[in-house]
Amino acid sequence: MAVDDEIVNRSENRPFEDVLNTHLSRRKMMKGTLATAATGFLASSGVAKALEDDDEDEGRGRRGRRGRSRIGFTPAENPGGPEPTISEDYEYSVLIPWGLPLFPGVPELDPTDVTANGADNQAQQIGCGHDGMAFFGDPDKKRYGRPSNDRGVLCINHEYGVNDRVLRKSLPESLEDVRISQAVHGVSVVELAKKGGQWDAVVPGARNRRITPNTPVEFSGPAAGSPLLATAAGNPGAGTVNNCANGRTPWGTYLTCEENFNGYFGANDEAWEATPEQARYGFSSFGFAYGWHLFDERWDLSNADYQNEENRFGYVVEIDPNQPLAKPVKRTALGRFKHESVEIVIGRGRRIVAYMGDDQRFDYIYKFVSADNYRRMLRRGKSPLDEGTLYVARFNEDGSGDWLPLTPDNPALAGWTEDEIAVYTRLAADAVGATPMDRPEWITRGRRQEIFCALTNNTRRTEANAANPLAPNPDGHIIRWRDEERFTGTRFEWDIFVLAQDTRVENGGDASFTFTDPDGLWADPFGRLFIQTDGGQPFGNNQMVVADIRRHEFKRLFAGVDGDEITGIATTPDYETMFINTQHPGGNGGDPAVTNFPIPGAGGPEVPRAATFAITRKKGGVIGS
Ligand code: FEO
Ligand code: CA
Ligand code: CA
Repeated sequence: MAVDDEIVNRSENRPFEDVLNTHLSRRKMMKGTLATAATGFLASSGVAKALEDDDEDEGRGRRGRRGRSRIGFTPAENPGGPEPTISEDYEYSVLIPWGLPLFPGVPELDPTDVTANGADNQAQQIGCGHDGMAFFGDPDKKRYGRPSNDRGVLCINHEYGVNDRVLRKSLPESLEDVRISQAVHGVSVVELAKKGGQWDAVVPGARNRRITPNTPVEFSGPAAGSPLLATAAGNPGAGTVNNCANGRTPWGTYLTCEENFNGYFGANDEAWEATPEQARYGFSSFGFAYGWHLFDERWDLSNADYQNEENRFGYVVEIDPNQPLAKPVKRTALGRFKHESVEIVIGRGRRIVAYMGDDQRFDYIYKFVSADNYRRMLRRGKSPLDEGTLYVARFNEDGSGDWLPLTPDNPALAGWTEDEIAVYTRLAADAVGATPMDRPEWITRGRRQEIFCALTNNTRRTEANAANPLAPNPDGHIIRWRDEERFTGTRFEWDIFVLAQDTRVENGGDASFTFTDPDGLWADPFGRLFIQTDGGQPFGNNQMVVADIRRHEFKRLFAGVDGDEITGIATTPDYETMFINTQHPGGNGGDPAVTNFPIPGAGGPEVPRAATFAITRKKGGVIGS
């Protein structure tokens, strides 16, 4: 995703300015080769120590094959070019490109003439800017009703599509243009099946669905019914936008996260000025130059009838993939910020714990803990995502951390109401003293209760702290923590899993594990961490690297096409098919001179299109092995 360049956190949350000496001594320990640096550093930290103890336990058991790498595949090259590259042990097929029809009778987008498509067609086709996704296998009779590995639905986020790509001009010139631009955003629910060993999508089915910025939605949780979400126009809630990464629940629903929602609003009245709340969320008079406000008053911040419309975006949104008529529900108890992803785990007492990052420079990491056992809540007709406690993270310089409650009974939030905290979450987090991070992107749970978060980069950091130890931090890092009380506690221990710069070839590493700008992140249940990148790649295109977590080894599995970003991870229940996406091939504007993907080559008339790859091992088996 294109970066929102603004720094909107003007709070004074710089709790570690005085820990530079600590930071310097840690950096000294990381000198040398990657492996020894990692050992030296991690051995000193609480999380690593706890994991080593677990390893010893495991070593006595059947699964303890301590000497064997979990990433045995041949690394992929990364030559760059108009087509992707994959490890010679793997193969891929291309599915679900932008513009593929979801319903019978709808034409397919013509990549040689995308402007002829029209808004009605686009709202019934796959969107563009593919991002986070999840696969939901159908119940399989042969597997006693367990989820199928061969048939199901894939929910796909469509994060964004700039006008230069979608309209082939920089600004919309009509409401129809705006509707086209809106219709490439949102979510697709896609039925797919394996036929003759090959994945086929879209297969006909009642669950195929498009959700766009104009689809009716509901609100639940503390902000539902709040005056902060009411407009004078009285328009019902509609739509989701900038759907970045995602999550899934144990009860079989999909969670889509609204990230850079501020960029779609603008102001037609030149006298408009942002309120402090709007400024903290980065609203400006022309947003990211989508120009929706020029023809659709809902997105005009200076239109009094639609005041508060902007408070209706910035949430985690729940979608039931098996109920195509059910409205998406915005779960306001999880807070309003630039939600990147949401990792749901089951904590002590079967409480639901949701880990979330706010992707902006100097913004925060959050978690939500449900009020009760999630099954009991569901039996009582309550969503576990509606009642509970929202926390924000403070990373202490000694490797400990605290989850700070964002509740009206926190003395730092005296006078705040629950709905104000739910809607102006960033400001509440400023008030309690959270730690400003280097752009928190995806969060994932490892196999032993450790949580990883990709901190993609922060070129504007001028003062290091223990959790963000590089100033500036152009390549990013991955932080890791483990909460007390099986995810539900308010204390944690943390360490830095890897600084991306330590994998660079000039630091004595091997190019096959070099990466920068970690973004998409997924830990499998076998001890691997999949890392997808989004940034300037000095050694080729954006890519997906796999780590053996315990051995601290990295290896490239896949490299994208020129100008793209690799993002989105979903697997079948047997982990033998992995779905990943190419987003913005050919750069933000989609330059056909760079690539015509998925049409082979470059220089043809076809505008490049985002698409999904289905990746399998040639000899079969779990992806990453
Ligand atoms: Fe949508 Fe922060 O990436
Ligand atoms: Ca991302
Ligand atoms: Ca990113």
